[in-house]
Amino acid sequence: MKIEKIIQSRIVEMDFNNIIFGNQYSDHMFCCEFENEEWKNSIIKPFGNIILSPVSLVFHYGQAVFEGMKAYKDKNEEVFLFRPKENFKRINRSAIRLEIPPIPEKIFMNGLKKLIDIDRNWIPKNYGQSLYIRPFIIATSGVLSAQPSKNYMFIIISTPADTYYKNPLKIKIEEKYSRSASGGVGFTKAAGNYASSFYPTRLANEKGFDQILWTDSSTHTIIEESGTMNVFFYLNNKLITPKANDNILSGITCKSILSLAKKEGIFVEERNLSVSEIIKGLKTGELKEAFGCGTAAVINYFKTISYKEDDFYLPDIEEKKRISFYLKKRLLDIQHNLSEDPFGWRVQLKRFL
Ligand code: PLP
Ligand code: COI
Repeated sequence: MKIEKIIQSRIVEMDFNNIIFGNQYSDHMFCCEFENEEWKNSIIKPFGNIILSPVSLVFHYGQAVFEGMKAYKDKNEEVFLFRPKENFKRINRSAIRLEIPPIPEKIFMNGLKKLIDIDRNWIPKNYGQSLYIRPFIIATSGVLSAQPSKNYMFIIISTPADTYYKNPLKIKIEEKYSRSASGGVGFTKAAGNYASSFYPTRLANEKGFDQILWTDSSTHTIIEESGTMNVFFYLNNKLITPKANDNILSGITCKSILSLAKKEGIFVEERNLSVSEIIKGLKTGELKEAFGCGTAAVINYFKTISYKEDDFYLPDIEEKKRISFYLKKRLLDIQHNLSEDPFGWRVQLKRFL
């Protein structure tokens, strides 16, 4: 792999006391191209603009997929990735569904590990902070007819990250718009899934909600996920999350929480969860907590859930007594190498250079 290092690091411009998600990017990026049926030309180079033809397929037909993952530091400033193989597998599941050629594991992992090693100074040191890593693939062939591209770029960039959502969330159960449908691409991290959520999310924001709680597209009676998060409900002393299907992105944080909760003896269920069950739980008080989880969001609890014209407040439990707080701490402790890693999730980054 070719490595072209930046002459003068931009890290002096980075304010680690005021980390704003996506405001500044680390010094380098990893790039690789798909050409003549082969992924090749791996290179790490200074972060910078890329030049593409205006007819590149990505601009017209949205052939693009991405991932989101994080690198953490421990007290000795050793660096750890969290379950990177899961992101590797998921970007290829997304790629295949979007008719994009899958990335070989070696290219993904070597590019990722070398890039983060070179940019390790960009990883914030504090608990809960991390370097958010964004691998993505775009279709680059300049052809205006609607067809899969022959050429692609796979790029990895990164940005220092702190808390994504600052406050407990106000959530609205969606009854009109949908983010996905059976047989569609909801289970992928296709760029277009996010584009299509912006309009209904803005409408919800204008009414004072932070996020939409998506429901199934045909009946709007089954809970799916929320914003960029999978969701959990602590209902009747059980921690319940909608079972992943082709409408729902199978989240790595969600899978990790399920494993952690089971290990802690918390009763968990992955199953269809209806809107009426949630509303009943809100009315009777049997729904004690609800929260969303994801790589960027980590774990964020819901303050209110609104349905039709009614706003329901979840019980006002002290933060540290919440199941969501407990699980978040268990997860972050593993990510920051502060506790045992019983599931083998941490991948320590060796110093290559
Ligand atoms: N659902 C959607 C739509 C997302 O964008 C994300 C974020 O990646 C998640 C769920 C959570 O997935 P993960 O925990 O793998 O980040
Ligand atoms: C993630 O959590 O990795 C996401 O993809 C969220 C992102 C859209 C900010």
